[in-house]
Amino acid sequence: MAKARAKPQEKQKQTKKVENHGERKLTEAQIAVHWKEEEYFQPSAKFIGQANLIDPAMVEKFSEKHFPECFREYAELLHWDQYWHTTLDTSEPPFWKWFVGGKLNACYNCVDRHLEKHKNKAALIFVPEPELESATVITYQELYRRVNEVAAMLRDFAKLKTGDRVTIHMPMIPELPITMLACARLGVVHSVVFGGFSGEACGMRAADSGSRVLIYADGYFRNGKWVDHKGSADIAVQTAEKEGQHIDKVLVWRRHSGKYNSESPMIMKRDYFVDEILKDYRGHIVEPVSMDAEAPLFLMYTSGTTGKPKGCQHRTGGYLAYVTGTSQYYQDIHPSDVYWCMADIGWITGHSYIVYGPMALAATSVLYEGVPQFPDAGRPWRIAERLDVNIFHTSPTAIRMLRKAGGDEPKKYNYHFKHMTTVGEPIEPEVWKWYHQVVGKGEAVIVDTWWQTETGGFLCTTKPALDPMKPGSAGPAALGIYPVIWDENGNEVTAGSGNAGNICIRNPWPGIMQTIWGDPQRFVNQYYKKYNKHPHSKDWRDWPYYAADGAVLPADGYYRILGRVDDVINVAGHRLGTKELESACLTISEIAEAAVVPVVDEVKGRVPEVYVSLKPGIPPSKAVQDKIMSTIETMIGKIARPKKIHMVPDMPKTRSGKIMRRVLAAISNNLDTGDITTLANPDIVAQIRELVQGRGVGPLKDGPEDIKRFGEET
Ligand code: PRX
Repeated sequence: MAKARAKPQEKQKQTKKVENHGERKLTEAQIAVHWKEEEYFQPSAKFIGQANLIDPAMVEKFSEKHFPECFREYAELLHWDQYWHTTLDTSEPPFWKWFVGGKLNACYNCVDRHLEKHKNKAALIFVPEPELESATVITYQELYRRVNEVAAMLRDFAKLKTGDRVTIHMPMIPELPITMLACARLGVVHSVVFGGFSGEACGMRAADSGSRVLIYADGYFRNGKWVDHKGSADIAVQTAEKEGQHIDKVLVWRRHSGKYNSESPMIMKRDYFVDEILKDYRGHIVEPVSMDAEAPLFLMYTSGTTGKPKGCQHRTGGYLAYVTGTSQYYQDIHPSDVYWCMADIGWITGHSYIVYGPMALAATSVLYEGVPQFPDAGRPWRIAERLDVNIFHTSPTAIRMLRKAGGDEPKKYNYHFKHMTTVGEPIEPEVWKWYHQVVGKGEAVIVDTWWQTETGGFLCTTKPALDPMKPGSAGPAALGIYPVIWDENGNEVTAGSGNAGNICIRNPWPGIMQTIWGDPQRFVNQYYKKYNKHPHSKDWRDWPYYAADGAVLPADGYYRILGRVDDVINVAGHRLGTKELESACLTISEIAEAAVVPVVDEVKGRVPEVYVSLKPGIPPSKAVQDKIMSTIETMIGKIARPKKIHMVPDMPKTRSGKIMRRVLAAISNNLDTGDITTLANPDIVAQIRELVQGRGVGPLKDGPEDIKRFGEET
């Protein structure tokens, strides 16, 4: 495919001119961001010829004058038991209601309705990590049977009712989506906790959601090793009990049916092997419960600016409509495609774009158990070749890793992607080009999709057949999404100004979360307070959604996302709250203060570094360092392991005693700390720099925007 220097729809020339802001002092958010303008790449004629989103009139159809009715287009992709009477109800901002009066079942939409045309088609293809274990194919017919049996077990054995919550802490095995769909069939709200989180992290989430049933797996393969997972259930139960939540039952799936592989003993009358219990439910059929469009479908906990993760509550109708519509148009899924999203179902990407969106479209979805580079960096391409995958979806971290470990590997395999996605972090143009030329063999169209756990589905992305691609930029807004960039004072940062600001979405959309589970006030404060001028207004225009990401917008209308502007660190595309790590450190008796900052990492994007000061009289030691590492692993999980731990004599502080995390982030990344004269203890900065970087501090660098702005809000 030839790359061309074409221009996207708005044929304006990029102006590098910085807006005239008069006498007003520029805030951090407006600091000019310089990067080389990238050339555009065109989708191939072959892709365009078969694409779902090919009608340019769709852009007009989803324009503001057709909002909110434009979203009928997405909802009509679903089967409704009862049609809705009101597309968007704004009577209680910002608690929007979508497709009010409508009734549907998410499981029915993802499974039952496909039986007529696709019952013998593969729904899921499970690829175990050990390469000698062969793939398992589950057809829609078999999925239907299995989901029904599990639903019967959840209802009749675990006594779960519509509206109950259940916490699922499972690895990437087919029983995970089967369990989720069984919950959806009953209207039971699932809360899936990423398998790599610790038992304690799972227990905290189970307690917050009020789950009395936990669903586990005994273990799984990862990076060539068997991971014993069931032990984490015991910790989760204890943690939940400590938090006041009793767990009645732990249902344990066995990775190899009939063979238990864990050191952790089964506890009588609490722990049950699912494969044994299921024998009593063989052939049972459970009528899907017809749910209100607004009934919650699931919770997904994510990190924010406080120590406690928040349960993002997603609704049934709006969410399912949004992920189905975006899977159809941006993932370009047809029932004949073999689609592989390498994300983990334990994150929102897996929920929206492995399970609900693709399955609502009767896709064949590949589920891979392990790490991409096991046993070598050719593995993903062997899987793609063998299963004839033609749509591929992954994160910049995985792309960087595969490029580093085996940049020429894709060339050895005879697979052909028509479409590829990148998601979760900003992607460097060089990495994008490798993805395009080597992984995509210059044939595949790429969508760089920007969105969040909270948003349910894509917010910015190119329309694959209609828009040219631009490496490093997510692209224009998705259909029906109207973004804006504001500075800290609410002044619009205009397209082509060259300045960065806070990206917000001016309007509601069906995929947006309903609320934070059990904490509606936090929902309002976190996402809407910042730019809301009229707290009593019932007009959606007064309630823009604050995404907490920095962004720039050149004149071509392609948003480039710069990263988080709050206390969240995006590690390998996974969200970690710095406050969560700090709270973990503060449980250690020797530690007086803790601060966590992001550090640029070549492969993972960002990784956390920990600064601690010890209580008087306690000398720094390897023992304390080890304690910090193991506490973080126990309380959060291995994914939160800090790159380095620095034990410092004191923290840089303002006169009011606030730790200046921004100064620490500058030191860790070898950047200029800026003005430190207003600190209560400016001398400490040089001491810490020497401790961290040694005496020979090199020339200071210019850093990425999210690092420069880190800690600004606290
Ligand atoms: O900073 C943005 C980054 O990931 C954050 C959301 O993380 P999470 O809720 O875990 O969801 C990840 C999967 C959607 C955002 O606030 N992010 C996500 N996608 C992109 C991105 N940054 C740049 N480009 C993207 N395509």
